[in-house]
Amino acid sequence: SQPGEAAQYVLAIDQGTTSTRAIVFDHAGRIVSSGQLEHEQIFPHAGWVEHDPREIWDNTRDVISQALSTANLTRYDICAVGITNQRETAVVWDKGTGEPVYNAIVWQDTRTQPIVDELAASGGVERFTAKVGLPLATYFSGTKIRWILDNVPGARERAEAGELLFGNTDSWVLWNLTGGPDGGVHMTDVTNASRTLFMDLETLSWDEEILAAFGVPASMLPEIRSSSEVYGVVGEGEPLAGVPVAGILGDQQAATFGQAAFGPGAAKNTYGTGCFLIVNTGEHIVRSKNGLLTTVAYQLGKEAPRYALEGSIAVAGSLVQWLRDNLGLIQSAPEVENLALSVDDNGGVYIVPAFSGLFAPYWRADARGVIVGLTRYVNKAHIARAALEATAFQTREVLDAVNADSGVPLTELKVDGGMVANDVLMQFQADILGVDVVRPTVIETTALGAAYAAGLAVGFWNGLGELAANWGEDRRWRPSMDPAERDRQLRLWHKAVAKSMDWTD
Ligand code: G3P
Repeated sequence: SQPGEAAQYVLAIDQGTTSTRAIVFDHAGRIVSSGQLEHEQIFPHAGWVEHDPREIWDNTRDVISQALSTANLTRYDICAVGITNQRETAVVWDKGTGEPVYNAIVWQDTRTQPIVDELAASGGVERFTAKVGLPLATYFSGTKIRWILDNVPGARERAEAGELLFGNTDSWVLWNLTGGPDGGVHMTDVTNASRTLFMDLETLSWDEEILAAFGVPASMLPEIRSSSEVYGVVGEGEPLAGVPVAGILGDQQAATFGQAAFGPGAAKNTYGTGCFLIVNTGEHIVRSKNGLLTTVAYQLGKEAPRYALEGSIAVAGSLVQWLRDNLGLIQSAPEVENLALSVDDNGGVYIVPAFSGLFAPYWRADARGVIVGLTRYVNKAHIARAALEATAFQTREVLDAVNADSGVPLTELKVDGGMVANDVLMQFQADILGVDVVRPTVIETTALGAAYAAGLAVGFWNGLGELAANWGEDRRWRPSMDPAERDRQLRLWHKAVAKSMDWTD
């Protein structure tokens, strides 16, 4: 038989900021098996964050093998592969050899601020927003590609000679998975392309004028495709050889899809390394007046694209990792919950984790992290609690922006991602938002969304109705904080945010 013929499962690759996972799903959207490997976070200077693309590709192969072998599966059991990924992280590699010319520059990296300033000198940070939905900021891929071309010896000449390719990690994984230098396909989907600063949201194609302003040759860029179609098949020699790769979604859009947030107004918040709230705006491109990004939610084959508003928060789970790795306050990330629970409140402490400046709704590159409210009374448990609360406060600010933009307040928030296992945080989140917080039965919505996109393309699922029926509610947190106390906490939070600004020298 051929790969995929009687296959019962879809495999999703989730190439995230801290780890790469492969998860096998069945038709009901349940997890059958998985594999996961972390990769090194490389911090060469303050504000710089890199990953080794070779390590990421090696890990991708290994986690695929892990996921298959754990459940005794072979390529004949898998009907399609979906890819989801950390967005914006930029890889540039040699088309002939597959060798990256530099490490991947990660979305959190702020080294490109001088490039942002140079481009914003005429027209300001909103110079390209009408076309691309994004302000000029270090966050997006465009400035990172430009940095590589400016700083890696010979890179610009090689790029102009057509020898180099750019991709976010979706394209990097896809190209390698489908054969690499021996015929790998160089493509991306509309959601990833919408995070580069180069894609026109209306035409869904690369914009020549913006590319010229950035000095980036179009020949480096992947072909933009929909989020759900067959891009190619896995190359010979791979455990999944011959299986179609049929779905690509940036991880936040994948989580939106996995949460079955299909209709206009449907929303989700994902608590990962960062935290990203997305509201589906249907076929309409909505321009934010309150610091949100306009982005593509997904496009299924030849259907019209669906758009979204997004509130991006750079630091959420990574603040807990920082408590663990940089301060040594805890041994493992889950310990933060018990530590936070050992005190009744934050003891007056507020942490604004502006490690990459502040993203939504402020977009302040000059902000840096602050811990305020310290007294002799404060202990590490208060710091742990304040770290968790920072994520909830930032989400509240983004939700306020969403409500102001849409005029119709959200009445509940669907949540997912690793941190939603944390009850202290979720209860506090409901308290600070003043609306219910709802967790679905499958919290691996990111990988599920990519599996759905791939499975739809090959007919494993027959439509959105079937996917929506797979969604189930697991737990709901209701607000119980006294509104006067909530207002007091928010007032203090805003004072702390004000202190984080104007900090760069
Ligand atoms: O925009 C960055 C985002 O895609 C990264 O997501 O889950 O790796 O924090 P995550």
